[in-house]
Amino acid sequence: MIVEMKNIIKSFGSNKVLKDVSLKLKGGEICALIGENGAGKSTLMNILGGVCKMDSGAIYLDGKKVDFDTPAQSLNAGIAFIHQELNLINDLPVYENMFLGRELKNKRGRLDLERMIYETEEVFKQMNVDLDPKIMVRDLDASYKQIVEICRAMMMNASIIIMDEPTTSLTEPEIKRVFSMMRMLKERGVGIIFISHKLNEVMEICERYIVLRDGCLVAEGNVSEVTTDDLARFMVGYDVRTERLSRDKNLGNEVLRLEKLTHETAYRDISLSVRAGEILGVTGLLGDGRSELFQSVFGAESILSGKIFLEREEIRINSTTQALDKGIGYLPRNRKENGIIKDMNILENASIVTWPLFAKRGVIDWIRHRKIFKKQVKELRIKMGKSTDSIDSLSGGNQQKVVLAKWLSANPKLLILDNPTQGVDVGAKEDIYDIILNLAKENIAVVVLSSEAQEVVRICDRALVMYHGVIQGEVSKETMNEHDIMRLATGGKLD
Ligand SMILES: Nc1ncnc2c1ncn2[C@@H]1O[C@H](COP(=O)(O)OP(=O)(O)OP(=O)(O)O)[C@@H](O)[C@H]1O
Ligand SMILES: [Mg+2]
Repeated sequence: MIVEMKNIIKSFGSNKVLKDVSLKLKGGEICALIGENGAGKSTLMNILGGVCKMDSGAIYLDGKKVDFDTPAQSLNAGIAFIHQELNLINDLPVYENMFLGRELKNKRGRLDLERMIYETEEVFKQMNVDLDPKIMVRDLDASYKQIVEICRAMMMNASIIIMDEPTTSLTEPEIKRVFSMMRMLKERGVGIIFISHKLNEVMEICERYIVLRDGCLVAEGNVSEVTTDDLARFMVGYDVRTERLSRDKNLGNEVLRLEKLTHETAYRDISLSVRAGEILGVTGLLGDGRSELFQSVFGAESILSGKIFLEREEIRINSTTQALDKGIGYLPRNRKENGIIKDMNILENASIVTWPLFAKRGVIDWIRHRKIFKKQVKELRIKMGKSTDSIDSLSGGNQQKVVLAKWLSANPKLLILDNPTQGVDVGAKEDIYDIILNLAKENIAVVVLSSEAQEVVRICDRALVMYHGVIQGEVSKETMNEHDIMRLATGGKLD
């Protein structure tokens, strides 16, 4: 199948989001759609997927003009859409989610559970996915939710699959698995549009690229003819630096120390310390336990044994308010699920954790909030309309930045950032790195949890690599490299 989108124009109110964009995709081709946060990628795909209406323009499938008023119409025409926001229902088991909206019925008109389970198992087998179809979606890790979404698209026998940032919450081996699924589909003649901010992924899996900037198509071509630096430049319009970041290190006193911290299942025997002004990286693969470990420090996960010291004083934290009170900030990962409050506007979302700090006699000082937020919008280059607009009106990456902003404004002694650059574009990533470096300069102890070895190497003074719940090894700024980190992360040792 050949898809053509011609002269697409779309505005939200006075915000012109797509200004005359045209693109073409052939079956059996994987095409990257890249661009800065807010460039219009998801909106363009929402139009193709029948999620939102264009103001003008046309879509052709194999030369025939089509009109999609609903996602179902687009799906029926053979276009499957894996959204940036996951679309699974938590209170249903995996197999029912796989058949959402097209449930299989038996002769008596009842749900045919057995057949749905069987067919789900078949797809999982084909895709090499080790997952019980009867598990409730609620109990799945975000990366497995993503995998379920991908398998669902596969099962629909789509001719075109749109993947909007499918790998943001996945780790290396899972990404490889998704890529091998994509290659398999490509062999079968499926066309794929792949949206990602990870340019090395684009280089690995795509043959063509299309770049949007501010709602305009600014570049397109063959991936084999460009480098990641070229792509980054097309996206932001200037050269993006990629070197290792260095700064004058001025380490202060110990801020956090863990002694033999042990969890029921996720991690054991963890001892570490972080000093003021230090950036400590913690990395590893999925299931390494790093997120649970720092959730424990923040009081969101219980511990079995061991001790936590903050500025040499033993502490036990039971709630996030308490943690904040003690000066610990924590940016959770999977902020779609854990960080954003849908019913609040942008400013409220950006400042909610600092309410207790800035409230006098229970009255929130909005003028001060607004001032701080305004500065952050500039520093983080958050692309938005008014700060009272709904958080939903922001692009995915800009929502991420708002959540980051709320933790930065809390002025903590210790800041734990879980996947701080998840879903943000290459330019904004550099901005966030600068901010992290500046925080350290201001004597904050920063812990960066990251699945990207490259990120750890670029910004951390030191990094611990975890493997199945234990610290497998430590690497330091002077000698660390991605190769050693991967080796430790997969259970190996350094000589
Ligand atoms: N429902 C909506 N209402 C109002 N504005 C919207 C809506 N959806 C998107 N926008 C605006 O359209 C612009 C493009 O957003 P879009 O989600 O397409 O960006 P994107 O390229 O996918 O970015 P990201 O990489 O951050 O996901 C943004 O300025 C966003 O604020
Ligand atoms: Mg998007």
